[in-house]
Amino acid sequence: MSLDLLIKNGTIITATDTFQGDIGIKKEKIVAISKEIESDPGVEVIDAEGQFVFPGAIDVHVHLQLPFGGTVSADDFENGTKAAAMGGVTTVLDFAIQQKGHSIMDAIKARRKEAENRVCIDYGLHAAITDWNDETQAEIKQVIDYGIPTFKMFMIYKDEGWMADDGMLFQALEETKKWGGMISVHAESVFVLDMLINRYAKEKDRLGAYAHTLARPYYTESEAVQRAIKWAEVTGGRLYIVHMSAGESAQYVHDAKEKGVNVYAETCPQYLLLDDSVFKGENGHLYATCPQIKKKEDSEGLWKGLINGDIQVIATDTCTFDTKQKAMWKGDFRKIPFGLPGVETMFPLIYTEGVVKKRFSVNHLIALTSTNPAKLFGMFPQKGTIAIGSDGDLVVFDPKRKVTLQADMLQTNCDWSPFEGWRLTGYPTTTISRGKVIVKNGKFIGQPGYGRFIKRQAVKSIEL
Ligand code: URP
Ligand code: ZN
Ligand code: ZN
Repeated sequence: MSLDLLIKNGTIITATDTFQGDIGIKKEKIVAISKEIESDPGVEVIDAEGQFVFPGAIDVHVHLQLPFGGTVSADDFENGTKAAAMGGVTTVLDFAIQQKGHSIMDAIKARRKEAENRVCIDYGLHAAITDWNDETQAEIKQVIDYGIPTFKMFMIYKDEGWMADDGMLFQALEETKKWGGMISVHAESVFVLDMLINRYAKEKDRLGAYAHTLARPYYTESEAVQRAIKWAEVTGGRLYIVHMSAGESAQYVHDAKEKGVNVYAETCPQYLLLDDSVFKGENGHLYATCPQIKKKEDSEGLWKGLINGDIQVIATDTCTFDTKQKAMWKGDFRKIPFGLPGVETMFPLIYTEGVVKKRFSVNHLIALTSTNPAKLFGMFPQKGTIAIGSDGDLVVFDPKRKVTLQADMLQTNCDWSPFEGWRLTGYPTTTISRGKVIVKNGKFIGQPGYGRFIKRQAVKSIEL
């Protein structure tokens, strides 16, 4: 059979297997995996000798060109997906946020318009529910059938008009359960949070950016996590906790799983690798995100959760703001645009910190960043693995390459990096999206508009 692309001599890594071999791709799909595949003349060949071949990473949590915090996040659909490709990510999931008084489908159509013809890799959308009523309830099945089986609910963000109260969350869990959907929550305790923000605002000039972390102690997350879990327990709905940042939250997820509650969780590199000492520096405000980066012991609890299976996904919550945008705070921690760049650095950072530092195996890394996201979000086995019939979304990764991260070497539209100066061992060299080489030897060669909207499936049962 004549192939379109052949990747030869790599060490192929999936969530379960490691073996030497070649991979053949035709018409966007993997069509051959074998010890040795003969190459016909004219077939594009990538020699992956001495390198790993991974399924492309899937970042299920990005906010590209999001209007937020008085500005718009700096990585738009084009540049954000370029940055993703440079970092070994071949699929991203962003959000279509319902406007109160409007339908969910309106938000989806508007967001797709923004993304289409711009995205350089495949993408999907979660539907964020902000307005629960009979029409919204009736829309849930329609949205799932459209290819969006995952919904987002924010337990905070009153002023943005995004907040969902517990009654909404409860009903959305009940409704999505009927159709194989899943509810993702941003879990923070809104009333205590607002009280603490007001308390520390009185001392904002003295405390500076550190007030942001004082106002968001671990329990402002873990209490909300515990509450959301309770609603999942009694409704039987499937719940996914996004950007989990506190060790105690991981413990609550663990306890709930032991009881058989249908709950899953995600954490992000910033919560694993940074701690709240970053807010003491002169540029502490740059690190403000939501929920907040917490303490060293929280990071330890999160690593433990990743290792023992309580946390199934690493994603980034990419919401890029450059130093100019962050400067809008003018000394008031309440006015910092919350969010960090991340999609480009997630995979190599966690390879170094997770695999090279022997916290977990390279196969487990693939489970956390590709296979589990694909299974939980209704994309498996089209995405998330290396198998016959799967999309040719692959990353060739040089495990020996040493890189010192610097903002100016990255594709992201950001003039600073939370991981500036971090020394990495291992970096993606080539990224392939549906059989097309879009990053070659560290250079982006793809095209805006190449990426497609992924119509995802409802998930009846999950085996991770
Ligand atoms: O600070 C963040 N994470 N900004 C994006 C919105 C959200 O809560 O995920
Ligand atoms: Zn959030
Ligand atoms: Zn987010």
